[in-house]
Amino acid sequence: MSTLDLFQVPGQRLPLGAQAFILCGFAMPYQDELLAALSAIEAQSPFRKMQTRGGYRMSVAMTNCGEVGWVSDLQGYRYSSIDPHSGAPWPAMPGVFSRLAETAAAAAGFAAFQPDACLINRYLPGSRLSLHQDKDERDFSAPIVSVSLGMTATFLFGGHRREERTARVQLYHGDVAVWGGEDRLRYHGVLPLKGMAHPLLGERRINLTFRKVR
Ligand code: SIN
Ligand code: FE2
Repeated sequence: MSTLDLFQVPGQRLPLGAQAFILCGFAMPYQDELLAALSAIEAQSPFRKMQTRGGYRMSVAMTNCGEVGWVSDLQGYRYSSIDPHSGAPWPAMPGVFSRLAETAAAAAGFAAFQPDACLINRYLPGSRLSLHQDKDERDFSAPIVSVSLGMTATFLFGGHRREERTARVQLYHGDVAVWGGEDRLRYHGVLPLKGMAHPLLGERRINLTFRKVR
């Protein structure tokens, strides 16, 4: 543990912006239920590496649950109510997922958050997510709620332009990042995953990103 990590303690609300926070360890009480629900989702809609419009395969593998799911292929990216892999609707959002998302949003100052989509990202060592904005949703008044499980990742949180400098923070198992309001469209990304395997999840990091799309 580095010296700085000592300041990131469970229960703490670490500000990244006026309306952006990391809720340290917020998801810990939910972890067993989250992991059980995740196995059920994976069995129905497995993780897959999607293609970008440019024909590249992403290093992060993805699946979804909820009314709509984020998909990307040679036609570009969009939300779809059907999992293209199974041809069926995405698995329903488990109760524990929506409860956690709503409670975390409220703790960050966003009351009555009702996500209709949860993108589930799986990072293996080396997987990364380049800087991007979450802007495919219809309504930017709802925040983004992002739950980290498994291996520790370095999260980049920038400004409203790609070129702006980014803050770097470690996201640990159980941390929940929430950004909305004036910070809703800030660029963010994840550095290539590396480091120690997680005692429960092994050499994996799982991220749940809750959004209100429709
Ligand atoms: C995302 O921006 O979709 C995921 C962020 C993360 O994995 O922490
Ligand atoms: Fe994102």
